[in-house]
Amino acid sequence: MKTNTLAAAAAAALGLAASGATARWHEADGDGATIRYSTVTGYFLQDEPTTNPSGFDYAAWNFGLLNRTYPTDGWGQSHQTQWQRFARWVNYLNGHCRNDGRTRYKVLVMGRHGQGWHNVAESYYGTPAWNCYWAELDGNGTATWADPLLTAQGAAEASRANAYFASRLHDHGMPAFDSYYSSPLKRCIQTADGTFSSLRLPPGSAPFRPTIKELFREGISIHTCDRRSTRGAIRAFAPASFRFEEGFTEEDELWQGGAPRSRGETEAHQRARSKAVLDDVFTHDDGTWLSVTSHSGEIASLLAVLGHRAFSLGTGQIIPVLVRAEVARGGQTPTTTAPGFTFEATCTAPPVTSIAGQGCVCSTTSSSGGIPAVAASATSTPSPRQM
Ligand SMILES: *[C@@H]1O[C@H](CO)[C@@H](O)[C@H](O)[C@H]1NC(C)=O
Ligand SMILES: *[C@@H]1O[C@H](CO)[C@@H](O)[C@H](O)[C@H]1NC(C)=O
Repeated sequence: MKTNTLAAAAAAALGLAASGATARWHEADGDGATIRYSTVTGYFLQDEPTTNPSGFDYAAWNFGLLNRTYPTDGWGQSHQTQWQRFARWVNYLNGHCRNDGRTRYKVLVMGRHGQGWHNVAESYYGTPAWNCYWAELDGNGTATWADPLLTAQGAAEASRANAYFASRLHDHGMPAFDSYYSSPLKRCIQTADGTFSSLRLPPGSAPFRPTIKELFREGISIHTCDRRSTRGAIRAFAPASFRFEEGFTEEDELWQGGAPRSRGETEAHQRARSKAVLDDVFTHDDGTWLSVTSHSGEIASLLAVLGHRAFSLGTGQIIPVLVRAEVARGGQTPTTTAPGFTFEATCTAPPVTSIAGQGCVCSTTSSSGGIPAVAASATSTPSPRQM
């Protein structure tokens, strides 16, 4: 697929998508309407500038929900939990603000997949060798990291999330999700399934029927861990409860790694398609409590679009965000002239090293893509990537 058709593909996904709870947000749908997102701070530890993301564990902090009061406290039964009181406040915000139909609040709970084989391999080979050589292969004969599966540790991280959600739902009054979404990459499907499929949901809750959405996938680098499997292979792999969004293609039409193209997604492109998938979800899903299982790089991109501070997640970590979405009229979506994908140089054998801002330093006989053997061009730096 040519680069200039990618935006069209994203737009097609945007128009065609179907999700769990479907009720179109008409005010957001008209000509010239754009949605502006912001993170409503003051509710979760993770959006406070003083919280250190490094080593932060959702399970030590009730997902980060702050102990506080809300203006709607005391309107319902007494002795309600922090989660129940927060949920009532969010309902109030939605009820009140929907009078003009132009503002919606959602609680977006985003989970990074558990540890995958690509995570292990990057640690094993070291990031320079991983980026410049090994990540472009499907595996090394012992381990496979093309659309990789979870390791035992990764599966345990999903089980831990399962137990923690069970305790929140049953002992702390946290609402169950209205809808569930997953990246199409297998490590996320496994993580979402391990986290939610055996969870006993309160009576009346929406069932766990996740929607696989193309654009919740990881940043589309030239690494094989960012190339998804075919729709048929995903269908055979995923439990029956998983559904594809409408328009989900058989082949991965976005990934451009591999010789001779060797093109990875730019940050600007990833931001734009992160906005597109949020617009899709906010326009078509009437639910308030949404679960998204995705990746560290993609969740970082979503957080940026939501105006949330940077908050990087370890494998299996989970972050909730109270999102305010407002319809703005007359705002034209800016058209970007920046390239969506750019060439990324690699080596044809394990590299000597890589230098930040310069690229891979291949051993003298082993560069690819017409790049001089010793150092790749400055624009093609495979910087340490998040996955
Ligand atoms: C809220 O209070 C509970 C009980 O005192 C405590 O365990 C928890 O860590 C507090 N949460 C935060 C985010 O401070
Ligand atoms: C392949 O990579 C894994 C780490 O992902 C490592 O444990 C294993 O030893 C490697 N196999 C070979 C043949 O180098």
